Amino acid sequence: MLIGWRHIAGLIGAGALAALLVAWAGVIGIGASTGHWKATDWFLHWAMRSSVRTAALGTTVPPFTEGMLPMAAGHFEAGCAICHGSPAMAPPESVRNMLPAPPDLTDKVATWSDAELFQIVQHGVRFTGMPAWPVEGREDEAWAMVAFLRRYPALDADGYRALAGFAASQSKRMDRLIETCEGCHAPGRLGAESLIPRLSGQSATYLEQALAAYADGTRPSGVMAVAIQGLAEAERQALARHFADRSPAFPRPASEDARLRHGETLALKGDPDRRIPACLSCHDKAGANPAYPRLSGQPAAYLANQLRLFAGKTRGGGPFRDVMIRVAANLEADDMTALAAYFATRRPSD
Ligand code: HEC
Ligand code: HEC
Ligand code: HEC
Repeated sequence: MLIGWRHIAGLIGAGALAALLVAWAGVIGIGASTGHWKATDWFLHWAMRSSVRTAALGTTVPPFTEGMLPMAAGHFEAGCAICHGSPAMAPPESVRNMLPAPPDLTDKVATWSDAELFQIVQHGVRFTGMPAWPVEGREDEAWAMVAFLRRYPALDADGYRALAGFAASQSKRMDRLIETCEGCHAPGRLGAESLIPRLSGQSATYLEQALAAYADGTRPSGVMAVAIQGLAEAERQALARHFADRSPAFPRPASEDARLRHGETLALKGDPDRRIPACLSCHDKAGANPAYPRLSGQPAAYLANQLRLFAGKTRGGGPFRDVMIRVAANLEADDMTALAAYFATRRPSD
């Protein structure tokens, strides 16, 4: 039998229908957290490289001058580093989950010709986060960026900062950072319902270990991972010292009720039958290990939430976190709210 055009049309139609059905069934994940299949990933990059190569054909490359670099470097810091990172800053945590993730450009630029880099910078890359140049008709600006990208692999942090012109403003950076932290952590914002902890009054050791744990994912929190993205280790340590140095402002106890008394009993004596140790044997006592955080005066909601996270083994933390995971494993929901209420209203001198 001859294969007529009707058969072919029928096959194409059936194929299209099948594809629609698959998409409709919802089995194709569009979540950015899972990643493309390897084959899709390869295909998209292959298509991108081919399209850039073709678009770059016949492009005349203008001469590069040193004068192009400061402008392009300043723009890179303002408009590109937030995705690609820079010699002065690792790529932020938040963009690592983009699909595709913006690559570190240090090794990448060598894989493209000048004309191809120009195509990417001028037109962006469709279906990815890579944007086109913000305005049309300024090819000269895009070429300056290409000249800068050629220099890019040879730049270290200081060379980059000097070129981008923000070496002088480094001292103001700490003030700006502190202001950002206080946007959430200012004591005035931390009522009993707060899920944000008080930082003042903790030891610098504990704060530093907490920040390190957020940075390397040992203590998972999307909110804090983004808040400290791009911070150098030395900056995290300086922030830890800054907040630890402040004297804590503790709220007055609310009312004496049965729940508070239950919390107090557990905190002071624990419950040996249920294998709950006395919290105050580790926390909030003079001469305690500085890696043990202070609980008194923290918002009740924050404390209860952390206890639930420890019990569910998702809290993470510093080098002694396992101790606390074992403690929380034996606490019932009632114990947690009672303990949180007690510590929220406790003063360190009590
Ligand atoms: C919103 C995030 C974002 C911003 C802002 C951004 N990019 Fe990109 N860029 C990407 C992503 C994502 C890719 C990867 C595209 C791919 O994998 O096909 C990329 C790819 C590139 C590439 C090609 C690298 C390669 O080999 O895959 C270059 C060069 C580049 N960007 C330069 C820049 C420059 C210069 C700027 C600033 C003018 C900039 N990007 C701003 C997200 C961004
Ligand atoms: C958008 C609000 C927000 C910003 C901005 C923010 N934080 Fe946080 N921070 C939180 C929340 C919420 C938590 C509790 C997260 C958890 O459940 O682990 C937290 C927890 C912490 C902890 C752990 C404290 C403890 O008792 O275990 C430290 C340390 C910390 N933040 C420091 C900082 C620093 C330093 C900055 C500024 C660079 C900052 N935070 C900016 C909301 C914020
Ligand atoms: C053997 C010592 C020990 C005992 C006993 C103990 N803890 Fe802890 N606790 C720790 C350590 C260590 C950490 C810090 C974990 C980390 O690195 O983040 C911690 C952290 C916490 C935190 C998180 C505070 C914050 O700022 O994020 C809470 C809440 C807490 N403990 C409550 C309790 C309660 C309630 C009890 C009593 C039932 C208790 N702990 C008993 C050692 C102990």
